[in-house]
Amino acid sequence: MQIASHRFIWHCPMPLIEKELYHPHIGERHCELGPGTGRTLRRLPKSTPLQELHLVDLNPACLARSSSRLRHRFNVHPHEVGALGEWPIPSGSLDSVSATDVMHCLPGDNVFDKKGMVDNAAKVLRPGGMFFGATFLQGHTGAARSLLNFYNNKRNTMHNRGDTFSDLERLFSDHPGFANVQTKLVGTVGLWAATRVEGDA
Ligand SMILES: C[S@@+](CC[C@H](N)C(=O)[O-])C[C@H]1O[C@@H](n2cnc3c(N)ncnc32)[C@H](O)[C@@H]1O
Repeated sequence: MQIASHRFIWHCPMPLIEKELYHPHIGERHCELGPGTGRTLRRLPKSTPLQELHLVDLNPACLARSSSRLRHRFNVHPHEVGALGEWPIPSGSLDSVSATDVMHCLPGDNVFDKKGMVDNAAKVLRPGGMFFGATFLQGHTGAARSLLNFYNNKRNTMHNRGDTFSDLERLFSDHPGFANVQTKLVGTVGLWAATRVEGDA
């Protein structure tokens, strides 16, 4: 369902996210926020540098499923904690962090209310490490707008009515922990990749 909705509703196919974000930016010591079933990481090529993998998710079922599917390839450390909570990962220890299809799940009226996730990523990354990800933004076309309204009402699965691309760009460009920020809007999905800079964030 997620693969189909990415392509046909949000107009940002998953292979594009894998090719533009995961393949160039994932490092040896990586944290995946909201891994879901672990599908994206399972599709990494054999040549991936990834070895030590931290999984951060507040849903124990997602952690159990993704851990069991990824354990045979990587050294997996699951952490049952929210993206806005305190991650039990040493500061400055990771080469990369990613958050694909997670930001729109976080509570808030706009992306600035979700800044805690960006702060947490800055904290665990080493200087030069990469934070990358993708999130569904406000939908303007018929199908995207309908699905967004449905998920923002039904059991509050999504919180992205106020999430805009210009705010996403500002969230990263104003953040003291990141530089060389690249952002891109593909369909209704905002993509980012940002480099951790030296110093406190
Ligand atoms: C739509 S799935 C995305 C799964 C995966 N990243 C992918 O692209 O296939 C959203 C994931 O985020 C997790 N999630 C939702 N809210 C979260 C939060 N506040 N903190 C951490 N994880 C969260 C869900 O449990 C789920 O694993």
